[in-house]
This record gives sequence, C-alpha cells and structure tokens, in this order.
Amino acid sequence: MVNVGLVGYGKAGMAVADVLAADPRYNLRWVARRHPHAEGETVTAGAQAVPVVGLAGGGVEAWLDAHPVDALVDFSQPDAVFLYGEALRQRGVALVSAISAYSNKELDYVRSLGEHTRVMASPNITLGINFLILAAKLLRSIAPFADVEILEQHFREKPEVSGTARKIAQTLALDEERITSLRLGGIVGHHEVIFGFPYQTVRLIHSAIKREAFGTGAAFALAELLNQPPGFYTFDDLLMTRVRQGLQAA
Ligand SMILES: NC(=O)c1ccc[n+]([C@@H]2O[C@H](COP(=O)([O-])OP(=O)(O)OC[C@H]3O[C@@H](n4cnc5c(N)ncnc54)[C@H](OP(=O)(O)O)[C@@H]3O)[C@@H](O)[C@H]2O)c1
Repeated sequence: MVNVGLVGYGKAGMAVADVLAADPRYNLRWVARRHPHAEGETVTAGAQAVPVVGLAGGGVEAWLDAHPVDALVDFSQPDAVFLYGEALRQRGVALVSAISAYSNKELDYVRSLGEHTRVMASPNITLGINFLILAAKLLRSIAPFADVEILEQHFREKPEVSGTARKIAQTLALDEERITSLRLGGIVGHHEVIFGFPYQTVRLIHSAIKREAFGTGAAFALAELLNQPPGFYTFDDLLMTRVRQGLQAA
C-alpha cells in the first residue's frame, strides 16, 4: 500500500482526504495544515482518524522521518512547496500538486524537484476535464475546418472567466472570444466544447458534481506517477501514457 501525506485540509482537501482514505491502494497517514487547530488534533477521513501536523511552524524533516510517506498530495497554497520541497527532494518522496496558481518562480522550483524525485503538477486535476481536453485536441486536429465554441457555466458569484475554459481555448488555438460564460445559481462547473460541422454537431461536455472529483483525479495521478521514473509530469503526460498503453493493447 502507498503511504500518502496530504497538505491542505480546506474545501478541496477535505473531499480529497475522504477519497484517498476510502481507496484501498492508499494509506492516508497524515494531513498538514498551516497550524493544527488543537494539540494532538486528528481529522476524520473516511472512517479513520488521521493525525494533523502544522507545516508553518517548521520541523517538516523530523515529522517526515517519524511519519514517512511515499508521496505527498498538495491542495494548500502556492508557497507551501517551499516549506516541504527540500525534505521531499532529499528523501525521494513523490509529489502530486494540484495548486492552480503557481507563480513562475514557484513553478520553476516545483519543476526542479523533478530532477530528484517524481513530480506531477496540474491546475486541472479532474480526470474528466483532462479527458475532455485530450478528446477536443484530437477532434480539432482531424477536423480543423469545423467551427468551435466553448461554453462554461458556473455558480452566480464566480466573477472571472473559468481558467479551465481559457486553458481549453489555448490548447485548441482559439481566441478567448470563442468562450461564452453563463453565471447561474449554484452550478459547480460545466464546460462544453461544441464542434459545428456542415451536417452534424459534436458536443464534448464535462459537469463537475462534487469536489470529491479532485480526489479521484489525485488518486489516478498518484498511481500513474509512481509507475514513472523521476521527472516532472503534467496530468496530460500521465493520461497520454495510459492512452498509448490502452491503444497498444487494443
Ligand atoms: N487542480 C485542481 O483541479 C484544483 C481543484 C481544487 C482546488 N485546487 C487548489 O487547491 C488549493 C486549496 O483550495 P481550497 O479551495 O481547498 O482552499 P482553502 O479552503 O482555503 O484551504 C486551504 C488549505 O491549505 C492549508 N494551507 C495553506 N497554506 C499552507 C501551508 N503553508 N502549509 C500547509 N497548509 C497550508 C490551509 O491550512 P489551515 O487549515 O491551517 O488554514 C487549508 O487547510 C488551492 O491552491 C486551489 O487552487 C486545485
């Protein structure tokens, strides 16, 4: 079984912890926050009590030596990687980072960890969205003449255009004007890529239902990453490896 530590126990981290704790491939050994909320704090993930460690106070090396893990999953904040990065590098601990908004400096540092251990970082960690992007890229390459529009729908309060929709536009070499955004009620996240052909229409749709989807994506990334040699990977890289293997086996 793979021993895992989870950094970040906020909105996303809580859902991810439940998914990892329920997955028989993984043993969720501990959860890290900035500071524990109480002395000897534990959280309940799945049915198990998981100890909590605070990273901001230092002592990461000693904690890792006393509670070793094979991999760390990060759903915290961009700068947290500077607190644990060297400890991972020295111990060869793998990293799955879901942080969506690394600065260039932070991302360069995360990439540098890939020189010594296995690292995957992706601002989009659901299997569904990454599959949608792959399928859209494929269709675009074989039908460059089709009209393409992107539709994204989110909860009423989301102010900005979806980063995922912008990533889809960028991947398909489309102007961001091709994105239509709707803000309605409590929609968690809906992305649709519409290909208009003369005599047919193809719609690729992804709807996020619950944050647990981030946990499923992290579990997939962990399993695939641990099969790779040390290096820096994106979710795309790991997915493409699986797709190639699937096509060769077919
Ligand atoms: N890639 C994806 O698809 C995806 C999807 C969802 C979220 N995310 C990313 O996940 C992250 C968390 O999102 P969220 O909505 O869950 O945020 P959130 O509710 O604000 O939770 C943030 C968590 O990170 C912890 N934290 C912050 N700085 C830390 C540090 N230096 N060391 C250790 N722990 C630290 C916080 O600790 P305390 O509990 O002590 O405050 C808290 O538990 C964001 O970076 C977001 O971009 C990515």
